[in-house]
Parts: sequence; structure tokens; C-alpha cells
Amino acid sequence: PAEKQALRARIKDLLVREDAVLVAHYYTDPELQSLAEETGGCVSDSLEMARFGNAHPARTLVVAGVKFMGETAKILNPEKRVLMPTLEATCSLDLGCPADTFTAFCDQHPDHTVVVYANTSAAVKARADWVVTSSIAVDVVDHLAGLGEKVIWAPDKYLGGYVQKVTGADMILWDSSCIVHEEFKSRGILDLKKQFPDAAVLVHPESPASVVEIADAVGSTSQLIAAARDLPNERLIVATDRGIFYKMQQAAPGKIFMEAPTAGNGATCRSCAHCPWMAMNALDNLAHVLEHGGEEIFVDEDVRVKAMVPLQRMLDFSA
Ligand code: 13P
Ligand code: SF4
Repeated sequence: PAEKQALRARIKDLLVREDAVLVAHYYTDPELQSLAEETGGCVSDSLEMARFGNAHPARTLVVAGVKFMGETAKILNPEKRVLMPTLEATCSLDLGCPADTFTAFCDQHPDHTVVVYANTSAAVKARADWVVTSSIAVDVVDHLAGLGEKVIWAPDKYLGGYVQKVTGADMILWDSSCIVHEEFKSRGILDLKKQFPDAAVLVHPESPASVVEIADAVGSTSQLIAAARDLPNERLIVATDRGIFYKMQQAAPGKIFMEAPTAGNGATCRSCAHCPWMAMNALDNLAHVLEHGGEEIFVDEDVRVKAMVPLQRMLDFSA
């Protein structure tokens, strides 16, 4: 519709006026992903989002995603202005790991290396030895296990359990989960497989172990998009946020994508394959923040300097 086109055109002008670049996660609305593509921004997983913002010369980064992604951008780029369409977009894993409780927990295990998932606050990262995203979690923990290190893992117990199983590392797991991925059900997926025996099952490792076990491919959002392209199957059952279908369809045109079933029906599941916080990012609040400012990320300098160390370690490890 003409109204939407006008809004997109206004955002494009504002990006230029503000010397800003749009960095969007695969779970955001296709409108935002396509706008990022059209304006020389980036659409990616959380690791590539961090890298892109760091390398791009724009003075302002607009992060369409959730708060930890904005904070990561600010930690790595203190001299840049980092805006988000709304600062209310958080993550159940971040909420499930308060910095004070987490610090006390780490202090109880001083002989352990602290590895935290990127889906955490800046203050939690500041207490960590390593930050990882889902695309390199296995590689980093495998590396640490090879050095004989014992690991505290936080906050996602399902991703942690998966990493532990694959690497055999000695790990203590924090008890938190993603409200989107924990809803996927192996029963429902297996029922769907009976109907479509040739379908491959793609699973993000924030899902419960019973779902990961029946997967043909397990991985981060970018790894799942690559699997959708590379697997020979024409039909794919996808256990991750449905926002990813925009890029999967681009990567594997002609294939058929199906949402993996969640707990029962729409009335009983809390998220139903779409992150409620990612869904808060929209064209109108993006235009608003570019036009009027506000919704800017600030990280206390002391916390930032400490959080930078494990984040930089992650970037160096994956370089
Ligand atoms: P990725 O790093 O795989 O993009 O995951 C981010 C996330 O929040 C998954 O729920
Ligand atoms: Fe957090 Fe889950 Fe949303 Fe990802 S999908 S941002 S892990 S709540």
C-alpha cells in the first residue's frame, strides 16, 4: 500500500540524514529485513550483527532485534550512537539471568571458566570469561574442554545441555530458557513427519533435547538457513522463530517451509513460534526513533570495558 511505501521512503531518507545503518536480526518482520537489505544494512544472526556494526563506518547503528544485540553493538562501538526501535524488546534468557544472582553463583565456583550466551545483559557479560553465540558455542566449549577447563554455562539450559552432550565438557548449567523455542514439541513434529515422511527437520538448539534429537540439522539461525539451502529435501519443518522464513525462502526458493508444531494450539502456547520481543520492532517505531531520537542504548563505562574482554575473545576466536 502507498502508505507503507511512503513510510519506507521516509526511513530511507532518515537513515541518510542521520548517517545511520540498519542492522536487523532474522527474526524481525520481513519489512525490516528487506529494508535493511535495500539500504546497505545487514540481516543476520547475532554473531554477524556484532561483526557488521563493528566494521561499518556509519556514526549511528540502528539495531532491530532485542536489547542484548543493541548492548553488544554499544559495547563494541562506544563512539557510535546505538538506537533501537524500542528498548522494551528484551529476551527471556536475559530476564532469566539477573547480574547479581549470577555473580554470586560464579563466585561459588571460582575454579570454573564462565561462558555466557550472547543473550545476556552487559552486566552479566562483564562477569564472564567468554561470550558465545549459538553459531560458535560448540566450538568454544570444545576448545575449553580440550584445555581441561570446567565450565559454568548460562543462561540457556537447553543450549547448554546440547553443547555438553556434543563436547562432553564438564559443565554446570544455569536454569533458564527461551519462551519461543521451549514450546516446540517432538510429538507434534513426529506426527507431521508421518504426514510428510520426506521432510527434513531443522532445529535451533534453544529447543528441548527431545526436539533436538529428531533433527536433521541443528544450528544457529545462519546455520539453519544454510541447511535449508543445502539439504536435498524439498519440504522442511522448522523449529525456530518464523521470522526466519523470509531469508530461508530467499536461500532455497521453491522449497516448502512448515512451522514446527508448538505446545498444543495458539490458545495454550505463550509464543507460538514468534518471539514477542522481536515482534516489537516495526516500521513506525523505527521511523520514530530516527526522526526524534530516544530509545538509545547506554552502557556504564566500567561495565562496558569489562564486557568488551569476553566479547572481543569471541570475535577473535571466530575470525
Ligand atoms: P542466533 O545467534 O542463532 O541468531 O540466535 C539468536 C536468538 O535469539 C535465537 O533465539
Ligand atoms: Fe530471546 Fe528466545 Fe526471543 Fe531469541 S527467540 S530473543 S532467545 S526470547
